[in-house]
Amino acid sequence: MAAADPVDALFPEVGGEWDLSRLYADLEAAGGKPLKPTEKACLRGLLSRYRPGQIAYLLSWTSGSLRVELNKGLYRSIETLAGQPGNTLRWEKVGNWLEAKGYRRTRAELKPSPAIDWGEAPSIGAFGGRNQEREQLAQWLSDPTCRMVALWGQGGIGKTALAVQLVESHGDRFRGVTWRSLRHVQTVPQLFRELAGESVDPLAWLRAQRRLLVLDDFETVVQDGELAGVYRQGLEGYGTLLTRVAQERHHSCLLVIGREQPKEVAIEAGEGQAVRSWRLGGSMPTARAPC
Ligand SMILES: Nc1ncnc2c1ncn2[C@@H]1O[C@H](COP(=O)(O)OP(=O)(O)OP(=O)(O)O)[C@@H](O)[C@H]1O
Ligand SMILES: [Mg+2]
Repeated sequence: MAAADPVDALFPEVGGEWDLSRLYADLEAAGGKPLKPTEKACLRGLLSRYRPGQIAYLLSWTSGSLRVELNKGLYRSIETLAGQPGNTLRWEKVGNWLEAKGYRRTRAELKPSPAIDWGEAPSIGAFGGRNQEREQLAQWLSDPTCRMVALWGQGGIGKTALAVQLVESHGDRFRGVTWRSLRHVQTVPQLFRELAGESVDPLAWLRAQRRLLVLDDFETVVQDGELAGVYRQGLEGYGTLLTRVAQERHHSCLLVIGREQPKEVAIEAGEGQAVRSWRLGGSMPTARAPC
């Protein structure tokens, strides 16, 4: 059986903010032909403020061929619909022109902001410092081509606190945020059954919408001592999960937090890659006296 076209699953979150069905219908009328799935995906991406180069990457197209495709059809129909002169549209203007024509929902019509399922995440009091780390990690989380971020470092250094702060300030870049600690050990199928409410392929769950999945205390699933880097018996699925998240196409992001860098991250991470790694250093936060 043919799988559903993954192009249709790109940028679904735009539907909350924009009246897409009316917009598609009016653009088809303006262009005199149906919009292709790729054109609809590009339109949703542009309305989400993704650059054409980033959209091309997610579609596995070259930037050049995507530009040609957009200039042939979608851009011309948008100019017509917006009542603008031909050949004047640049990608940055798409949202403004269509908003001016009333396709963006008003505040009263907007759907609620993304749900954050905090799971076992602690609540953090006043957070201080870590400006460089916050800036870099926030930039990675905002990049739709970044599929996995590892945040690792010694116990008590402040990984969980930093990640909570990041989710609080940047969680709205995602359609949904889910935080789970692996301290209460469960296998990968058990974890995703709990998240999805039914047995589901983890990558299908990550593809369904742009999600941020935070897995804290990742060291729990890895053996320590001489067998460092080897997964505990029955939990080898976490290694496969990390490899698949790194290599397969989706536009969600997995934030893995733990005391060691997972070996799958060490293999895949790098500048400009879909996987990024940050070792949290610096001094331990000052212990606060109990009240
Ligand atoms: N930047 C910060 N500002 C204020 N408090 C912080 C900061 N970083 C950490 N803390 C506090 O320090 C304590 C330890 O931090 P945290 O639990 O985040 O460490 P961790 O690296 O996740 O440790 P572990 O590996 O044991 O999970 C917590 O009480 C946390 O709230
Ligand atoms: Mg922690």
